[in-house]
Amino acid sequence: MNDLKRSLSEAAAAAFQAAGLSPDFGRVTASDRPDLADFQCNGALAAAKSAKRNPREIAVQVVEQLKADPRLASVEIAGVGFINMRVSPSALAERADQIAADDRAGAVLLSEPRRVLVDYAGPNVAKPMHVGHLRASIIGESIKRLYRFRGDTVVGDAHFGDWGFQMGLLITAVMDEDAFIAALMAKLPDAPRDFTAADEAKVRAEFAGRVTLADLDRLYPAAAARAKEDVEYRDRARKATADLQNGRFGYRLLWKHFVEVSRVALEREFHALGVDFDLWKGESDADPLIAPMVRQLEDKGLLVEDQGARIVRVARPGETKKKKLPDGSVIEVESPDPLLVVSSEGSAMYGTTDLATILDRRQSFDPHLILYCVDQRQADHFEQVFRAAYLAGYAQPGGLEHIGFGTMNGADGKPFKTRAGGVLKLHDLIEMAREKARERLREAGLGSELSPEAFEETAHKVGVAALKFADLQNFRGTSYVFDLDRFTSFEGKTGPYLLYQTVRIKSILRKAADQAAQAGPVIVAEPAERDLTLLLDGFEGALSEAYDKKAPNFVAEHAYKLAQGFSKFYAACPILGADDAAVRASRLTLAQTALKQLELALDLLGVETPERM
Ligand code: ARG
Repeated sequence: MNDLKRSLSEAAAAAFQAAGLSPDFGRVTASDRPDLADFQCNGALAAAKSAKRNPREIAVQVVEQLKADPRLASVEIAGVGFINMRVSPSALAERADQIAADDRAGAVLLSEPRRVLVDYAGPNVAKPMHVGHLRASIIGESIKRLYRFRGDTVVGDAHFGDWGFQMGLLITAVMDEDAFIAALMAKLPDAPRDFTAADEAKVRAEFAGRVTLADLDRLYPAAAARAKEDVEYRDRARKATADLQNGRFGYRLLWKHFVEVSRVALEREFHALGVDFDLWKGESDADPLIAPMVRQLEDKGLLVEDQGARIVRVARPGETKKKKLPDGSVIEVESPDPLLVVSSEGSAMYGTTDLATILDRRQSFDPHLILYCVDQRQADHFEQVFRAAYLAGYAQPGGLEHIGFGTMNGADGKPFKTRAGGVLKLHDLIEMAREKARERLREAGLGSELSPEAFEETAHKVGVAALKFADLQNFRGTSYVFDLDRFTSFEGKTGPYLLYQTVRIKSILRKAADQAAQAGPVIVAEPAERDLTLLLDGFEGALSEAYDKKAPNFVAEHAYKLAQGFSKFYAACPILGADDAAVRASRLTLAQTALKQLELALDLLGVETPERM
């Protein structure tokens, strides 16, 4: 079922055609002067330009046609040729009834669904997550849900960072600290001939007793810092990385332990944030594909030797940038930089695993589109990978897209850090938000009738909603400032405000159920009923815009306006207090429908609503 904007666009397109003009001029949008009209069409102006005619004259012709449309209560020309439309109360009521009867609350399904893979979150083994990962998780989760809801077959993959230099760093750091493990590693360059599953379990149990998550958290930052200063140390870590990737047996066992320990903890934290993946694959899963891929790139003539490393040049002839050399002179170099495929130590790099992962995904899922929901700061990396993939024929041009985003900043305008100056831990961030939410609930006198467990659950939902909504309400490219006080407020454009409104509708509906009030056909009489119906009709438009632009803020905006619209409606139009039974029934339907749509929209943002507050 089409929304009013779409069906009126069709009517306007037909009217333009009847006037001998292109139907493309018939695009109808929501009016930017709701006091004057519900919808508007500016096509006469563009049509006049291309036909070299007077816009008003064209508008008159189009309006003549549209006047016959029974859904329109009025069609008028404003200014130089804008066409203003008001929808009749009966057409609005009919549309509201459709939305009320629809499980999807008025959202249509795509006519040509695709297979889409969303690569998001991208946490790393042992490396603490930074705000980029938080945003990637929140935005990626929402895009995954939105694409799926509109009918695409969607797979969300965490693309765990488990294969790079940080693994070599950790192996080096653990061996330096633990002589027992170092000795074991020396004994196990290759798999002993009769090494059984039981032997492996024994070794792994030994690791479990010696290397905990807390150890990894402690060792990694220290090792990373040391590698920056200490060349010998860095070379050892590089060598360990290459050895691991080349299959050194003991390293692989130790690595498996690191991966498992990190993964269990991360999955739990993501789950608490309401972020769940269909696939938890890692960079390492692409490893078996790397050697054949390198051969293939060679055969295709794409791989070039460069100072001991092997690269793919991705810049087209003439694409250059200026580069300043240490001596101060400036030279022109190719741009984008080439993709580094094999390092001089023989290691696979970040770009290598990304390229091979495209092959892996093609074999397993054959997606039409892969969306990489990753920090904008990695734009150059993805440009290199995508170009290399297109050159090698691993993906169709346009089949790979980087969904970049800005940063969440601290009050100093720089990417957010904890008070101690460190990167934030997801766990701590959620706890901070939850604590603030408890405070806010108490302050507002909410949740006092809840059991302690239910109160905790509500506080958790309020805290997570605060974080997610604060992020998603901005266009993803925009950076924003972390301000937990503002995010958790029950007033303004916040997650908690939306939850509060949702809970309020739920409570109204509970009361209606207690009184056995029956919902019935919608009657649109009061301005607030009209406004609410138009808002409900706008759901599909918001979803398709969010989908096309890969930008959940359009869904967030819709949810916010709808919550506000309901609030105004409820203030102006008593539901259970309405005198007339038909009016009461109609308003009950509007309230139920608003709730259904609000919950759907919030779910697409990854926000869960409590029953009570
Ligand atoms: N692990 C990476 C990082 O922390 C992000 C991974 C993003 N996805 C990808 N396919 N490269 O920077």
